[in-house]
Amino acid sequence: MLESYSRCWTEIDYDAIGHNVREVQKLVGNTKIMGIVKANAYGHGSVKCAKALEENGVDFFGVSSVDEALELREAGIESSILILGYTPPEHFHYLHEQNITQSLVSLEYARKLNEYAKEEDVIIHAHCKIDTGMNRTGIQYQKEKKDWDSIIEVFSLTKISVDGMFTRFPVSDDLGEESATFTKRQIELFNEVVSKLKSMGIKTGVLHVQNSYGILNYGDLGMDYCRPGLLYMGVTSDDAVEIASEPDFIPVMSLYANVSVVKVIEEGQTVGYGRHFTAQGPTRIATISIGYADGLPRLISNKKHEVLIHGQRCPLVGNVCMDQCMVDVTNVEDVKEGDVCCLVGRQGDEVVTIDQISRDACTINNETLSAIAARVPRLDKRG
Ligand SMILES: Cc1ncc(COP(=O)(O)O)c(C=O)c1O
Repeated sequence: MLESYSRCWTEIDYDAIGHNVREVQKLVGNTKIMGIVKANAYGHGSVKCAKALEENGVDFFGVSSVDEALELREAGIESSILILGYTPPEHFHYLHEQNITQSLVSLEYARKLNEYAKEEDVIIHAHCKIDTGMNRTGIQYQKEKKDWDSIIEVFSLTKISVDGMFTRFPVSDDLGEESATFTKRQIELFNEVVSKLKSMGIKTGVLHVQNSYGILNYGDLGMDYCRPGLLYMGVTSDDAVEIASEPDFIPVMSLYANVSVVKVIEEGQTVGYGRHFTAQGPTRIATISIGYADGLPRLISNKKHEVLIHGQRCPLVGNVCMDQCMVDVTNVEDVKEGDVCCLVGRQGDEVVTIDQISRDACTINNETLSAIAARVPRLDKRG
């Protein structure tokens, strides 16, 4: 049962998260899951997702910022939390006050954090980011530059407890030879750092390298954790991308909106801003109360993008507006105000996916999901 109802809303099947976690676990063996719940769990609700993940044995969460970490703590999440990105110095105090683990994004940053910890006489828990090829954050350890001295220095900082080490794959989604070679090389470089540290008697802490495609395409790499975001939400970035495994995920999010008005227009009449749709004969148009300010990308306009009404596929017509869009329902019987239009999910025997929106908007599901606006209620399918 839905607890409330608006012009448009998402329905989040938190029970499906348990199923998806078990599917991930089948692929990674004994590797544990660090649930990535950043960006409000890509629009799915970070607190509710974190709780559903905890119920399914997940004991570590990844977020992008201290604000996101505090949101979890305030909601009573006691599991470990890793901030994957940068925390500014004025927020360092939250790290020890709230037992939050910080990524060490560079040597200079680690030194600054260590100085702070000395002044405050505290220990900061951290994971060291090794940059094996993404060239975003982390200490470089690549064919071209192996900054071994910086890695050693990070592990020698007295007020930082380096409890883990990780890296990031930029092309684990691509099974092509060049990308696969690149990713395998990253794994080798990472393992080289691990072996060197171990041979010096230095404890690396927990190791983690795989995001969703790293899991789908590289399976069990014998690491301590993997870091899925999309997979526990039951989707990949792009359905058209070939993957090396055959998992059975259940999409967690559905998206709906109400029909507000139904009207008939005649041949030659146009619909919406810019007048990009012209009726070829008598046409029944339903106005739907969702628009680009809700996260429905304007880029899907005029692409014959399909939604479901009364379980039948109908095309969007004209430009998506800020709060509304229009659908051709000429072939659907008895559409009326208050009917529910499904933009993502199942209605009757038909299914429309987030992937179809992303394809028409020329983007990936990560962006489409996380762009669903805060004003769109997230309703709990569990009830
Ligand atoms: C460092 C890091 N690890 C893991 C993830 C999760 O990625 P995905 O949603 O592809 O599993 C992200 C997301 O961008 C990330 O930045």
